[in-house]
Amino acid sequence: CGIVGYIGHRDAYPIIVNGLKRLEYRGYDSAGIALYDGKDVQLSKTKGKVADLENRVKKEIATNGNLGIGHTRWATHGVPNDVNSHPHYSNSGDLVIIHNGIIENYDSIKKELIKRGYTFKSDTDTEVLINLIEDIKKNEKVKLGKAVQIALNEVIGAYAIAVFDKTKPNEIVVARLGSPLAIGVGEDEFFIASDATPFIEFTKNAIYLEDEELAVVRLGKKVKVRKIKDDKLVDPYIQELRLNIEQIEKGGYDHFMLKEIYEQPKAIRDTYRGRLLREQGLIKMAGVEDNMKKFLNADRILIVACGTSWHAGLVAEYVFESFARVPVEVEYASEFRYRDPIITDKDVLIAISQSGETADTLAAIKLAKSKGAFVFGVCNVVGSSISRETHAGAYTHAGPEIGVASTKAFTTQITVLTLIALRLARAKGTMTSSEYRTHLLELELIPEKVERALESDSTIKEIAAIYKDSPNCLYLGRGYNFPVALEGALKLKEISYIHAEGYPAAEMKHGPIALIDEQMPVVVIATRKGHYEKVVSNIQEIKSRKGKIIGIVFEGDTEVKGLADHVIEIPETEEALSPLLTTIPLQLLSYHIAVMRDCNVDQPRNLAKSVTVE
Ligand code: G6P
Repeated sequence: CGIVGYIGHRDAYPIIVNGLKRLEYRGYDSAGIALYDGKDVQLSKTKGKVADLENRVKKEIATNGNLGIGHTRWATHGVPNDVNSHPHYSNSGDLVIIHNGIIENYDSIKKELIKRGYTFKSDTDTEVLINLIEDIKKNEKVKLGKAVQIALNEVIGAYAIAVFDKTKPNEIVVARLGSPLAIGVGEDEFFIASDATPFIEFTKNAIYLEDEELAVVRLGKKVKVRKIKDDKLVDPYIQELRLNIEQIEKGGYDHFMLKEIYEQPKAIRDTYRGRLLREQGLIKMAGVEDNMKKFLNADRILIVACGTSWHAGLVAEYVFESFARVPVEVEYASEFRYRDPIITDKDVLIAISQSGETADTLAAIKLAKSKGAFVFGVCNVVGSSISRETHAGAYTHAGPEIGVASTKAFTTQITVLTLIALRLARAKGTMTSSEYRTHLLELELIPEKVERALESDSTIKEIAAIYKDSPNCLYLGRGYNFPVALEGALKLKEISYIHAEGYPAAEMKHGPIALIDEQMPVVVIATRKGHYEKVVSNIQEIKSRKGKIIGIVFEGDTEVKGLADHVIEIPETEEALSPLLTTIPLQLLSYHIAVMRDCNVDQPRNLAKSVTVE
């Protein structure tokens, strides 16, 4: 979910609505807003998107007022409907809250409150929390900030919240545990948001709350931050934001996803800039250099992640094992954290996360740390929870990724992980120096080659038009490109709602081959390096069952061309680097199919970009 708040001298409504639009990637089942108009609270909320909220607001409420909070939701408790949308009132109608996260023990608190006469309109945990706050405020006769603090000490769960009291409309109380929360500090005004994008054009000064911190944001006062548990005052660090407005706008593209696909040459270059020093034959990454001993003494490397980041981890498994000859295990963070894994202080755990906020990945990190492992983060969002929780790390520098389906984060994650593998290979002597230099050179050429791969866009669009109505699609690849097949299938599923499966090409005969008939498009990654002949045999198997073959091949390929119904060419590169190129046509294919099917590309149904609940 995304939250936004404003208190100051401007009209709160446009700031909050625009802010919610920028945060919509975080969830878009429902949206709501509460404004204080000088006398009372104007509240409007609805199932659907922020645009639906705007329509509703027009009919329902006045939009004046200099204080307000807004929310865009990804449903956890309670189906996405109008009643369950945020903000929520307390029973007296004085307190209003927005909440991102989960209160796990809400049920027992709710029962207790019902005994005391409280009633509930929604099924949400959030309405329970605001009434708990109200109950404490009344019974203990404390100020809002204190009441929120006491309440948060009673709840179990994760949250980022913003609360205000209409009888004291000069402050907003905010707190975080597990879900991000930034406070923009302007002149006589404050902004509150899940990330800094809603207020970037108003102020460059932001305070990022740490976990278990609460802040009272009061007009005319400095922001007061304290620890929720022990009540200690904290001196807040005001960070200067580097983000600019162009980075979070579409810049002429129809969708963020397309913009982000096209940004990959630059993003990959930004990722290796200053790290890949080809002429000196060096790779320099402070987080790796400072911890070289940990990496070299590691018995194995564990990689944990979710979604697309997990696919980047799978590519990294192949790269690390081949380059640096270190055993690697890749696991879904959600499985890892709950299966009582064997972890020792001889393990290095690499956590991969675009957002740096994924709850399961964060929990896996905490577990590994508690068992003594050295934990290294590969994140895109600077200052995110995961980047702070890890012992060391390397950012991907892809720039903000807003489309829910991850694209440039994936290729830049692979870039960072490849750099690390090369650095370790050099330190361990597991690669010949000529292989090492070839890979440095080839990696440096990747952005240019991605640009060439993007030139197939119109061919891919034609192919998309042919298969856009297929109910199913199969993706096959081997070796380094097996995870790319998984990622290709995930992209199609996510944004076009076509059922798709990724499979190791050779495994096809053990199951998926049963699905193949003349209706079934099969995307086969068949680059000339790496099991080429074997993949060609798989293509023959598909062809003899009349499946439709879309081959992803290196430029100049003739063999697959002779067999496939369509081929998409990409420039040739080293096998280990080929995922950086083979991914590109798969991203474009899913993009065009989704557009042709009239799907919401940037905000696919039921998904959210940043999943801060488990
Ligand atoms: C969500 C997103 C995916 C993403 C995954 C992991 O499911 O929709 O695109 O790959 O979370 O997110 P992370 O931020 O940890 O990479």
